[in-house]
Amino acid sequence: MCGIVGYIGDKLVAPILLEGLSKLEYRGYDSAGIAVCDENGVTIEKAVGKLENLYKKTDNGTTISGTKGIGHTRWATHGKPTEENAHPHKSERFVLVHNGIIENEEFLRSKYLKGVNFVSETDTEIIPWLLDKFTQSGEDTEMAIRHLMSEIVGSYALAIIDRENPDVLYAVKNKSPLLIGKGEGFNMIGSDSMAMIANTNMFFEIHDKEYVVITKETVKIYTQYGKLIDRAPFKAELDLSDTEKGTYAHFMIKEIEEQPAVIRRLIQKYADENGDISVDKAIVNDIQSCDKIYIIACGTSYHAGLVGKQLFETMAKKPCDSYIASEFVHNTPLLSEKPFFIFISQSGETADSRAVMVKVKAMGHKILTITNVKGSTLSREANYTLLLHAGPEIAVASTKAYTAQIAVLAILASTVAKEPGLDIKYELSKVANVIETICSESETYKYLAEKYLKNARNAFYIGRCVDYYVCLEAALKLKEISYIQAEGFAAGELKHGTIALIEKGTPVIAIITQENINLNTRSNIEEVKARGAKTLVISTSSLSSHNDKIVIRDVHPLLAPIVSVVPTQYIAYYAALCKGRDIDKPRNLAKSVTVE
Ligand code: G6P
Repeated sequence: MCGIVGYIGDKLVAPILLEGLSKLEYRGYDSAGIAVCDENGVTIEKAVGKLENLYKKTDNGTTISGTKGIGHTRWATHGKPTEENAHPHKSERFVLVHNGIIENEEFLRSKYLKGVNFVSETDTEIIPWLLDKFTQSGEDTEMAIRHLMSEIVGSYALAIIDRENPDVLYAVKNKSPLLIGKGEGFNMIGSDSMAMIANTNMFFEIHDKEYVVITKETVKIYTQYGKLIDRAPFKAELDLSDTEKGTYAHFMIKEIEEQPAVIRRLIQKYADENGDISVDKAIVNDIQSCDKIYIIACGTSYHAGLVGKQLFETMAKKPCDSYIASEFVHNTPLLSEKPFFIFISQSGETADSRAVMVKVKAMGHKILTITNVKGSTLSREANYTLLLHAGPEIAVASTKAYTAQIAVLAILASTVAKEPGLDIKYELSKVANVIETICSESETYKYLAEKYLKNARNAFYIGRCVDYYVCLEAALKLKEISYIQAEGFAAGELKHGTIALIEKGTPVIAIITQENINLNTRSNIEEVKARGAKTLVISTSSLSSHNDKIVIRDVHPLLAPIVSVVPTQYIAYYAALCKGRDIDKPRNLAKSVTVE
């Protein structure tokens, strides 16, 4: 979703802004723009479509002089992706970029901005004009920013240039993510650390309803009421090489193939001094004493949550359900007496999940966040955090975060289980080895993806129980990046209606990793075959039949989703590749969805 970068220092700023924006491309966007200040004023350049258009327009940023500036990638919400709607937006005095949505835009327009000639359809454009209005009435810039914060309702991360304060950049935050990068002789603003990591690895967290006054030497953080906050910067573990794809053609394939290493890293990170797997005792105690676990998440993370339900109920004998955040927030179920909440989010910034967090926090319930991003909003606002240690996930389609999420859920469920059950360390090591074998067979998946999906308009993944949960994720992956309409279906339910869609040549991929449902799913495969479907079975070796085209080595059945999903990731990747799709940045999608 929208990305922000800002820089104030001594270097030529436009190339720095463009490079920062390129590191934010993974979030998803459809236009981009920069604003740069020099002694002659502010130059704004914008371009619709890919960032390379902005690179071209500015000759890689070299045609614009100036050492202070802001930049933005926009994922359209209010108004189409056009140059007029692209950020930065300006008034007579202020130029700014915005991530978020202003909810009381209409009210503010009629209260303060009658007669202003707006050039865009965006909610953002009211913000510089409000600042103009407030400063014209005698307020200084900081007063005007505080005034603005008291008036606007909604989510906003802002980077602001004031033409009358050339040595300062301002930043403001509420709900949308924002970090300040601390450098030597320069400072930066960014939606996330990736935008700044080429220049610095020291960052200040900014909390909701705070604003920041930034010069090249200083960073001053204030509350909405103007009280100076004393906050130390933190060092990010990320380094620049983590954000590059090296010899891989796409980030997605790199991230698929990082999965064995991620699982091994998790074993290491969750081992105590004796080498045994362990989790913070307070989390374990809280889960043991709750009467139900509520998992809240979106997209792929929700699918990992479904597997989590299985793990907690089977291993730890705790009732558990996984909920889609955007549904839970408005359609909250009747809660049990002592609930415990687990939020799963790769980015830790998803607005839908956060809306639920705000709600259940206000009810006083205990919250754990499982996330890949240390210091992210959902992590900061929870009682506890467990990290995924997966390294930055840059492809929009999530792969290594999903498998890491299930691995962390398994670690947690096995720690919460009072009866000694599976040896999680041993079983996860086996999982890592099996994924490695799967990765060594990528040519097979390429061949099968081309054979089954190259000309497909639609496709089905079918399975039962935990295999069904993996089917949901497998279908999501396929549709996200190949644009083939794909559905993950409970194998037994297909015959109750949806089987009407099966016709000659419809690809149906079945997943079979659980002994108790092996024969049932196989009957369902026969049903679709009889109606002309082109079937493909992914099974584990102990359950395989001689016709199965993808056979994966056995792992503990509870951990099977971590391995059975991997061939489906490859299938999605190669299907998208043969269809010539933009794999890492699929159309219409954003990696980090910071609006509800
Ligand atoms: C977006 C992404 C999905 C992701 C979902 C939840 O829609 O495109 O890939 O699964 O957000 O993201 P989160 O960061 O909360 O896991």
